[in-house]
Amino acid sequence: MRILILGSGGREHALAWKLNQSPLRPEILIAPGNGGTAGEGTNVPLAADNIPAVMALVREKKIDFVLPGSELPLVLGLADACEKIGVPCFGPPAYAASLEGSKAFAKTLMRDAGVPTADFAVFSDYIAATAYVRAKGAPLVLKANGPAAGKGVLVARTTQAALEALQDMMVRKRFGPAGETVVIEELLEGEEVSFLAFCHGQTVLPLPAAQDHKAVRDGDAGPNTGGMGAYSPVPILPESRHEDIVRDIIRPVLRKMEDLDCPYSGILYAGLMLTASGPKVLEFNVRFGDPECQPLLLRMQGDPLPAMLACAEGRLREEDGPAFGPQAALCVVLSAAGYPGDYHKGMPVSGISEAEDLCPGRIKIFQAGTRLVGKEVVAHGGRVLGVTALGNGLAEAQASAYAALAKIRMDNSHFRRDIGDKGLRFSQV
Ligand code: AMP
Ligand code: GLY
Repeated sequence: MRILILGSGGREHALAWKLNQSPLRPEILIAPGNGGTAGEGTNVPLAADNIPAVMALVREKKIDFVLPGSELPLVLGLADACEKIGVPCFGPPAYAASLEGSKAFAKTLMRDAGVPTADFAVFSDYIAATAYVRAKGAPLVLKANGPAAGKGVLVARTTQAALEALQDMMVRKRFGPAGETVVIEELLEGEEVSFLAFCHGQTVLPLPAAQDHKAVRDGDAGPNTGGMGAYSPVPILPESRHEDIVRDIIRPVLRKMEDLDCPYSGILYAGLMLTASGPKVLEFNVRFGDPECQPLLLRMQGDPLPAMLACAEGRLREEDGPAFGPQAALCVVLSAAGYPGDYHKGMPVSGISEAEDLCPGRIKIFQAGTRLVGKEVVAHGGRVLGVTALGNGLAEAQASAYAALAKIRMDNSHFRRDIGDKGLRFSQV
């Protein structure tokens, strides 16, 4: 079987690494891939969001299964294009991918389906939006409706900041067309948790919960990034509460998608805020989280490929879920200094094998923004590595990941020193 993985992040390296261990012994191509995926299969220099070129590759290489890492190819119609030529693709059609691609679509669907989420209003008219902001007053959360590379959300603590952000999005068009429509939300407070499930139609296979760390600096300070580290399981959302999330959040969305004549298929990722009045949805994603995918796959004992294929082929069964061990896993992202703003590239990265050799099989360095120059790994993106470790409990996974990180050498680098601390604090109370 020949699989094409699309993307170039730590998530895609983790997927390629995990599928390489499948008893189905797939041959793996990754487009465009990174320095790490080069060791797991064949990198193909092709942008993941160039759908015509991707489909030409699928035909030319007789690909049997397409696995997009990020949402962009799905929003652009990858699953629809695959369906036309009868090639299974793990992910929803473009219309259903609007759950991530359009915040207004997701919020309206949640309201119609009775899914708990922050109160909101949607505006395409700047004057009406400013009147709403003035009437409501801060704090407010402003979101560009369309995809904005994770940068289109602003938490405004003052009304002035909210008005400036509106002007930035709607008048100066800082996010281009993505900001022509804005969603304005009430601010939710609590712990954030990522809840992912394999879904097809009404069939749901929940994965263990994970917690991301979006802000760039310790203590959740500084601007948001794609994610600076993650761990799983999450003490604040024990497995005993997962059934409620599936009942109150995942299933109503799946039902609504069926009502809209667009049954959902693929990963449904609910970004939750655990508020004092219960879990509320911040956002939906239509793919694995990055970096949540890295600790989840390190914890996963079974082979995810049969369930992914079953999902893509519309024959998923609730008993098909891959097994997870009781151990915890934790991933610390090593980024280039300056990220998520401007950052350096080209720094050599060394110490990867020494780090993995500390505890073979229980420590894995997933590469993200890297490329190979000869045999040398060189930084080539904002998030460079995801240093991931398994442990008997969160404290051990954390200690092991940071011990591994200490073996890595890269100039101009940055990482958070408190990944997992929130989980440890909660388990101690
Ligand atoms: P989103 O892309 O909608 O998930 O927003 C990105 C991040 O902004 C989330 O992970 C939260 O940290 C924060 N955020 C989004 N919406 C809200 C909200 N209503 N209240 C508080 N924080 C939010
Ligand atoms: N780690 C957050 C995301 O993948 O959207």
